[in-house]
Amino acid sequence: MTQAGTHAGTRAGAREGRPLDTAMAELVKLAEEVAKNSYSKESKFRVGAALRLSNGKVVAGTNVENRSYGLTICAERAAIVRAVAECGPEIRVVAAAIVNLNGADSSPCGACRQVLTEFTEPDAPVAFPWNGQMEVQPFSALAPFPFGAKEKRGA
Ligand code: THU
Repeated sequence: MTQAGTHAGTRAGAREGRPLDTAMAELVKLAEEVAKNSYSKESKFRVGAALRLSNGKVVAGTNVENRSYGLTICAERAAIVRAVAECGPEIRVVAAAIVNLNGADSSPCGACRQVLTEFTEPDAPVAFPWNGQMEVQPFSALAPFPFGAKEKRGA
């Protein structure tokens, strides 16, 4: 059992090391491609994110750093911004893949989880490197209690 498997791995959607399905493997490949364009002169940590939208389109983003460090935008948020710009404000994310070219275990940071919350289906599979392999978890496992001041969920 993976480290993530100790907790989240017991939930529906856990892979326990099974190969990625074709659709998810395609997203991972695209995320790897876009990560090559990472602008990460400060950290040298090259991240790529690919999103599959409910309209069938796939969009990707990479991290863009700045000498003023706090202005950095993560790959996941870059991908969301691109998706909205290309497809409009009604986009829904139905699957996502996040990778880095540094061989590190890395799931989306808290800020990205919050931004993804507004656009991502709770059951959307999210792939990310963990324990040296690609872990896939439903988005709801990554952001179980999302902030939402305006929306009433389940109403
Ligand atoms: N980064 C991402 O692109 N996504 C995350 O979820 C976490 C961190 C980027 C930001 C920065 O350019 C680099 O990784 C190191 O923190």
